[in-house]
Amino acid sequence: MNTLLEILSQHVGEAFEKAGYKSELGRVGVSNRPDLCEYQCNGAMAGAKEYHKAPLVIAGDVADALKDCECFSFVEAVPPGFLNLNISDTFLASYLRDCAGAEKFGLKEPDKKDKIIIDYGGPNVAKPLHVGHLRAAVIGESVKRICAYKGHDVIGDIHMGDWGLQMGLIIHELSVRQPDLPYFDPEFTGEYPAEAPFTISELEEIYPTASAKSKEDEEYKAAAMDATYRLQHGDRGCRALWDHIMRVSKADLKKNYDNLMVSFELWKGEADADPYIPPMIENMKKTGLLYESEGALVIDVKEESDTKEMPPCMVLKSDGASLYTTTDLATLVQRREDYDPDRVIYVVDKRQQLHFDQVFRAAAKTGIVANKCSLEFIGFGTMNGKDGKPFKTREGGVMRLESLIGDITKTMYEKMLENRNLASDGEGSDELKKTADLVAIAALKYADLSNQATKDYIFDPERFTSFEGNTGPYILYTMVRIKSILARYEGDKDVQIAPAGNPQEKNVQMTLARFNAVLDNVFDELAPHKLCAYIYELADGFNSFYHDTRILTEEDEEKKKGWIALLELTLSVFETAIELLGFKAPEKM
Ligand code: ARG
Repeated sequence: MNTLLEILSQHVGEAFEKAGYKSELGRVGVSNRPDLCEYQCNGAMAGAKEYHKAPLVIAGDVADALKDCECFSFVEAVPPGFLNLNISDTFLASYLRDCAGAEKFGLKEPDKKDKIIIDYGGPNVAKPLHVGHLRAAVIGESVKRICAYKGHDVIGDIHMGDWGLQMGLIIHELSVRQPDLPYFDPEFTGEYPAEAPFTISELEEIYPTASAKSKEDEEYKAAAMDATYRLQHGDRGCRALWDHIMRVSKADLKKNYDNLMVSFELWKGEADADPYIPPMIENMKKTGLLYESEGALVIDVKEESDTKEMPPCMVLKSDGASLYTTTDLATLVQRREDYDPDRVIYVVDKRQQLHFDQVFRAAAKTGIVANKCSLEFIGFGTMNGKDGKPFKTREGGVMRLESLIGDITKTMYEKMLENRNLASDGEGSDELKKTADLVAIAALKYADLSNQATKDYIFDPERFTSFEGNTGPYILYTMVRIKSILARYEGDKDVQIAPAGNPQEKNVQMTLARFNAVLDNVFDELAPHKLCAYIYELADGFNSFYHDTRILTEEDEEKKKGWIALLELTLSVFETAIELLGFKAPEKM
């Protein structure tokens, strides 16, 4: 289906043609003077030179040609040559009825269905998820859902950090604590135990302990590096322990991501890329682009247009060990073999920009990725505390994601309990807890998503758990309000959107009519924050309509039915939008 602006532009274009000008001049946009009109066309200004006429004359000709156009209720040519336009209420209502009846509100199918891999989440195994992982998960999940909704074939890959020194550290620390385990006996040929020799909480304690020790003790560090080496070179015992670490860790990660309503189609990690490294290096060598620098293998990725420093990309360390770059490159090889993607989109902390610039360039230069495949980086900013520094716990430590979610849920629950008491509603507290869970996740995710991904933002729980302002709870509250009206409506179910009867209603209708275009734009720019801005505008518009309109007590049945249809469409636009943002609305609040 065409967007409303496309349709309006088409009509105005025809009027240009009728008046003797070329139709391309008829492009209509939303008015930048909403006090004067709803839409405008500046084509007469653009055409003045070509037709050697004053813009106002052209605009006047076009306004005449638009006299009988069904789309507009008001057309005026104003100096120096603008066309001011208002859409007709009947036309707008009929467009909305089309949207309501169309699949995906009339969002156009893509010309070509792309295979898109979204690389997001990126947790490091055996380390607890902390707030730094929140944005990767939340933004990545939303971007994935947006791409899928547009009609593409999308795969989300968690890409765990599961292969580096952190694994060697854990293995070594285990060997210190439990030296008698069969994993450390080189003579052992039997079957290793099926149970892991640690729990998730032990694992989460082991890693930081080992990491701290390695910083102080050179010998310890060397032993951990040796364990890493043995793991990466097929030592049976190390590998068996690695399997345990992965199993325990993944179960915990899954639980945490489930709570956040984040899920992955693929649970691959750096380790999965390992077998692809040797053949990749061989192929890269054949390109003649790799060279040795201080023992390491590197490739130049500098380009003439670079304004910032672009060091050579290191592909293999001097001891033959792989690096972050190596696994990312080999993962691209693997992805091409397995999926042959058209796009790979990475949602990662923007401080890794240089790494990805290097990886993308090295991949392109050495032909690792197919020509058709675009590699894209969505680098997100830091979540800061109110002091403007990266968010920390009150004690100054790194905040675990689990505690953060717990805190927000508690705040939400208390706020809602207060509201309930005010309304003296004896709702069961279990029910309320479930609702608080939903609202808390919405608060957290909306706070993150409503900020442009690349920007740092201030994490202010006080603000984003509020029921007022640009917050998740405000959006949900508006939805619940609509749900409650619809639940209480007892009239005829066969309802259709009617021409707006007042400015507030028209405003809601005009916002709804933009939804398909907004979705397209949000997809093109991979910008969930624009979807947030849109639903915030819709919520505000709806609430002012609601405050001025007695919907259920309206005596004119036809009027009431039109409003009910409007509410239904509004709700379903909200439902779709929050689904794409990755949260859900409760029935009541
Ligand atoms: N594990 C990495 C980190 O914590 C993020 C991984 C991002 N994805 C990637 N393909 N490099 O920094």
